[in-house]
Parts: sequence; structure tokens; C-alpha cells
Amino acid sequence: MAIPTQILDPVLAAPAGPGPRHVAIIMDGNGRWAQRRGRPRLLGHRAGARRVREIVAACPDLGVEYVTVFAFSTENWKRTQDEVSGLMSLFRRYIQTEADTLLRQGTRVRFIGDRLQLDAKLRALMDMIEALTAHNTRVNLTVALNYGGRDEVARATKRLARDVASGRLDPESITDQTLPRYLDTHVLPDPDLVIRTSGEARISNFLLWQSAYAEYEFVDTLWPDFTRDCFEAILSRYGMRERRYGGVRA
Ligand code: FPP
Repeated sequence: MAIPTQILDPVLAAPAGPGPRHVAIIMDGNGRWAQRRGRPRLLGHRAGARRVREIVAACPDLGVEYVTVFAFSTENWKRTQDEVSGLMSLFRRYIQTEADTLLRQGTRVRFIGDRLQLDAKLRALMDMIEALTAHNTRVNLTVALNYGGRDEVARATKRLARDVASGRLDPESITDQTLPRYLDTHVLPDPDLVIRTSGEARISNFLLWQSAYAEYEFVDTLWPDFTRDCFEAILSRYGMRERRYGGVRA
């Protein structure tokens, strides 16, 4: 039975607003997806990588200009050596095998996180794909690799402090607009929507500063099962939300 429009919440009844320009995703649940099938965790990560491809390819049609995915956190080094080295080789292979497609799709690839702890071969591939896709403008894929929000703020603060010490930055001029210029994400808009899959409702040190006004969606689907349809359903829910940034309802 259709609900009479007069009893719908006025916010929900309002026409859909614009979609999110920047979507950030915590891709969780790869390990459980594999374990439920009695398979090694790495198989879940491989299936997860295929979803990254599908979701990035869908972005231009869905009006998403920026997508940022959490691929490896500063805390993920605590996993077994097998899993860490398997993930690192998956990242290397992903860059090698996807480079052509990403270039042709018009995807610009960037990485955020501390690269210094990554091995030289992976770093070289990251530099290569960033340079190769630097002129693309259709969609911006940012991969957070060895990334932690607190670590990013600490590294940014170090750079800012150096500028103060050298006289390039007047401490009295510092506002809430200053630190973002030192963050890894300085060229990106803040995320409008953060999605976390697998039923966990945590932000796990992801884009802490940047997500101050983001909307959140926590969904039960495990990342390797997260299809384009799941993504579209979330985007249409987002269109029904009213973002007020601390103001009052219009
Ligand atoms: C979290 O699931 C997922 C990760 C730590 C890795 C994410 C990596 C990918 C999706 C692979 C490919 C990415 C790119 C960009 C090529 P989990 O292992 O913690 O799952 P669990 O909570 O079920 O154990």
C-alpha cells in the first residue's frame, strides 16, 4: 500500500538532492568472506580487488567524481606476514594489470599514506601509475595505502612545524584552513559520504580530519559482495539526506 505523501517525513518526501561528489569506502569483510567459503583470506582480498574495479568503473555514470578506498592501514602490519606480503603483491599486481584500463577509463589514480615503509618496487609502481594517469579527469581514485588518520595528521603537523621554524608560516595566521594544506589529501575535496561494509560501525582511523561533516553508511554486506547495485542503493539514500553542517533545517 502506498503511504499518503502528507504523512511522509518532509525531509524524506523532498525530491532527491544532489549525489555525493566524493565517496570514501572502508572495504571491510574480505577475510570473513573467504573464511565462510573455507578458503584462505587472500582469496577474499582478491575478490575485493575485483569490486574496486567494478565500483570505480561505475562512478562516472553515478555522478561520483572522487572515490577513496582504504586498502591498507598503518595498523594492518600487525597481520600475519603471509597476509601482509600477499596484500602487497596484490597491490603490485593490481597496478600492473589495471593500469591500461584505468588510463582508458579516464581515471586519475593517487595514493595517500606513508610510502616510506613500502617496498621500493611497489613505490615505483605507485609513482608510475600516478604519472601515467595525471591528465585524466573523469574520475579520481585515491588509494589509502599504509594510511592512518592520526599518522597523517602527525606527518602534516611535522611539515607545518618546519614551516613555522623556518619562518615560512606565521603561527598567528594558523586557522582551521591551514592544516588541510599539509594533509596527504590537500588536493581532494572532503568526503561527502563514508561507507563501511561488513556490519562494523567504526571509522578505524580513516580520514579523521576530512570526514568532520561526512554522512556515514554502515552496511552489512561484506566487501567482496558489494556490487554496483549496493552502491547505487546507498547513493540514492544519500540523496534523501539533508546536510546542515551545524545549521538549522531550511
Ligand atoms: C579489510 O577486510 C580489508 C583489507 C585490510 C584490505 C583491503 C584490500 C582490498 C579490497 C584489496 C584490493 C585493493 C586495491 C585497491 C587493489 P578484512 O581482511 O579485515 O576482513 P575481515 O574483517 O572479514 O577479516
